Amino acid sequence: MSVRVFIPCDAGAVAVGAGEVAEALQGIATRRGLAVEIVRTGSRGLYWLEPMVEVQTARGRVAYGPVEAGDIDGLIDAGMLDGQAHALCLGVADEIPWLKRQTRLTFARCGVVDPRSLEDYRAHDGYKGFARALALGAEATIEEVLQSGLRGRGGAGFPTGIKWRTVAQTAADQKYIVCNADEGDSGTFADRMIMEGDPFVLIEGMTIAGIATGATKGYIYIRSEYPHAITAMEAAIVVARRSGLLGKRIAGSAFDFDLEVRSGAGAYVCGEETSLLESLEGRRGIVRAKPPLPAHKGLFGKPTVINNVLSFATVPIILEKGAAFYRDFGMGRSRGTMPIQLAGNVKHGGLFEVAFGVTLGELVDEIGGGTASGGPVRAVQVGGPLGAYFPRALFDTPFDYEAFAARDGLIGHGGIVVFDDTVDMAKQARFAMEFCALESCGKCTPCRIGSTRGVEVIDRIIANEKRSDNLVVLEDLCNTMKFGSLCALGGFTPYPVMSALTHFPEDFGGARPSLQAAE
Ligand SMILES: Cc1cc2nc3c(=O)[nH]c(=O)nc-3n(C[C@H](O)[C@H](O)[C@H](O)COP(=O)(O)O)c2cc1C
Ligand code: SF4
Repeated sequence: MSVRVFIPCDAGAVAVGAGEVAEALQGIATRRGLAVEIVRTGSRGLYWLEPMVEVQTARGRVAYGPVEAGDIDGLIDAGMLDGQAHALCLGVADEIPWLKRQTRLTFARCGVVDPRSLEDYRAHDGYKGFARALALGAEATIEEVLQSGLRGRGGAGFPTGIKWRTVAQTAADQKYIVCNADEGDSGTFADRMIMEGDPFVLIEGMTIAGIATGATKGYIYIRSEYPHAITAMEAAIVVARRSGLLGKRIAGSAFDFDLEVRSGAGAYVCGEETSLLESLEGRRGIVRAKPPLPAHKGLFGKPTVINNVLSFATVPIILEKGAAFYRDFGMGRSRGTMPIQLAGNVKHGGLFEVAFGVTLGELVDEIGGGTASGGPVRAVQVGGPLGAYFPRALFDTPFDYEAFAARDGLIGHGGIVVFDDTVDMAKQARFAMEFCALESCGKCTPCRIGSTRGVEVIDRIIANEKRSDNLVVLEDLCNTMKFGSLCALGGFTPYPVMSALTHFPEDFGGARPSLQAAE
């Protein structure tokens, strides 16, 4: 019988040589006459250990990493195919403390199953949520999502069930389900991991949304920088369609639902839902004024559910295990788990899914292990390019939508980017404005003009030109952008800027008593 060896085909693992490792193992096994079956999976999310290779043994899957192609001969000599000890051996994968400490609900199968295999998906509880949704019917399915407390994982944290109910209650001849897989936030990769490692869970989640709201057609809008994810999703859609799980009368039910992948051309603002819809319709990605909400008048003017990949991918387990099971995790109004992404200058970068409530300090120091450079952590940016910079003094903040908002921050899509003590926060503040100027869709003045003026003002502050006057101008400009912008790109750019000024005044040429007193 052949030994099953699992090697990720996730883009992050492939980037550090997983493909070469698989090829080397195949070649060496053939040469030595060893019966080996290589299964390409997604990543478990321990990126500093990629390529991580797992071998099926009687004890469970034994992991080795990071493995290079040149290590394979030595690993086989040491008995890797029987799960024997080696300097690269990490023990039984499920027992690795970094994995064991997690609560993997959305990511339960990622890195475990073969993403191309519907049978493997089903063998790991796939389509159980869908079956329950069929049995419950539309209204009760929406109630279940509502009761679970699931909030949109794309950034705004809006209750998913309410969005679905609005679409369900809006009469129309055609409704749509749109998945936002633009994933533009810095330091985030959870959507990509799901699409590459467990694409059927997204298909299942979107199908449940279709049944619940009466939508018969769905689109997955994936950024063009994710070619592996596009391929994985397209392949899974073909398999699902062939198996009767997409198309007419899915799984023998009365429901029709089909899916298509569309790729975006790489604008941050195309992740904003209305801009995404414009792009999906074939136009330039410009933000639409709301109302009307997409739930009333969305894609092609029809009622549309638009949700992030993680929001849809969490629905199957909610339906399978029940709303109460999911709601039991978390704190306050942040229910369930959050797939947190640790990135930047961090020792243990990767995907860590955990119930809401864990503190920022635990995430950065204990789970992330501090910086990769070995220097002290000075700042972290949470929630993408529009998120605030937090200093150590705020590391007691629990990962919770409201707790972050109370400290002028946001958790966004769950990305944490770590910086050591070499970071220049004035440059980071300038970068936030520059990014906004570059990515602005141009529809509204505070963002289009304000961001360019913001770069100029910060340049003057850095150059010590009338510093105190310019600090007042910058704060005024930030307030104009915050309260006058049409969408969160212009509206939230002040957060990284002001947090850098507030928490790291020394990088702007000294303390800012006037500004601090005003806050
Ligand atoms: C500038 C900007 C960029 C955004 N980028 C993304 C993105 O890449 N992915 C995403 O899911 N949501 C993004 N959003 C949030 C979406 O507008 C929207 O809230 C989300 O897709 C709704 O899905 P959810 O409720 O499941 O989070 C962005 C918002 C703004 C203002
Ligand atoms: S805030 Fe910026 S990105 Fe948003 S609508 Fe206005 S110009 Fe466009």
